[in-house]
Amino acid sequence: MTDDINKVAISWYPGHMAKAKNEIIDKVKIMDIVYVLLDARIPYSSMNPMIDEILKNKKKIYIMTKADMADFSVTLKWEKYFREHDIPSIVVDSISGLNIKKIESYSRELLQDKFQKEAARGMKKRPIRAMIVGIPNVGKSTLINKLVNKKATVVGNKPGVTKAQQWIRLNENLELLDTPGVLWPKFEDRTVGIHLALTGAIRDEILPKEDLVFYLLRYLNDYYPDNLVNKYQITLDGKFNPIEYVMAFYKKYNIKNEDYDRIYDMILNDFKNGRIGRISLDRV
Ligand code: G4P
Repeated sequence: MTDDINKVAISWYPGHMAKAKNEIIDKVKIMDIVYVLLDARIPYSSMNPMIDEILKNKKKIYIMTKADMADFSVTLKWEKYFREHDIPSIVVDSISGLNIKKIESYSRELLQDKFQKEAARGMKKRPIRAMIVGIPNVGKSTLINKLVNKKATVVGNKPGVTKAQQWIRLNENLELLDTPGVLWPKFEDRTVGIHLALTGAIRDEILPKEDLVFYLLRYLNDYYPDNLVNKYQITLDGKFNPIEYVMAFYKKYNIKNEDYDRIYDMILNDFKNGRIGRISLDRV
């Protein structure tokens, strides 16, 4: 299993990571604030290991996306954790738009000192310059699209960056860089790799499907047994065993030709699409 995770890592090392890191460091220089996106189902696993180094001395807000897919009670605990560690965070659902408006007001609050200093030096009031970063599939484009309403206008380039960048003026208070920064995920730990694959941040073919499904079934049985029973109407006698569960699944759903892959795909897709319910994989 470690080897499989390492395969993913190899596809990023060393050129990719160095390039991604340098590009973001370069872009971040002229930002007032950076929105670091985390998947609310896996706030720990979706955190980039070098984010603090990349965003040295930069204001940041951890935005937990896909809150509609995560277990609300666990998300509340994550929010509490961040609050207790003085780390600004917001929970959003970029589909319904939950808390999207808060991003701007919270940013202004965090940047109050900076803007007061600028005003004291006689500088004019200006929009906040922000950018979005996060691992693949965490919801960067969806959030940008949600933030950009019809009134938004593209405001062209800004000096200070090597490449031409498109800025979107969301309103008079906030300007957003239109291309998000893609961060590489963590690889060092097997569980993190499984969480990333289960939520679609890395391709699930990279890890054996069986491992993913067995992990998921065990986890669901431990933390969300009712969701599992409600979804598939399968109960096992005695101690839970994922192999027995898959066998019971095979019989109940009349799967032909010992096509276990089909069962694995069904379960993985049901999970990814939220059909097993609101599930959080990383607990505080
Ligand atoms: P990225 O730019 O960071 O790579 O992510 P992107 O916005 O493309 O979003 C990845 C998937 O996550 C999209 O689904 C998107 O609709 C979904 N998504 C993003 N934010 C939210 C959210 O707050 N709630 C929910 N429920 N879904 C969200 P997709 O187009 O179906 O892609 P896929 O899931 O088939 O990969």
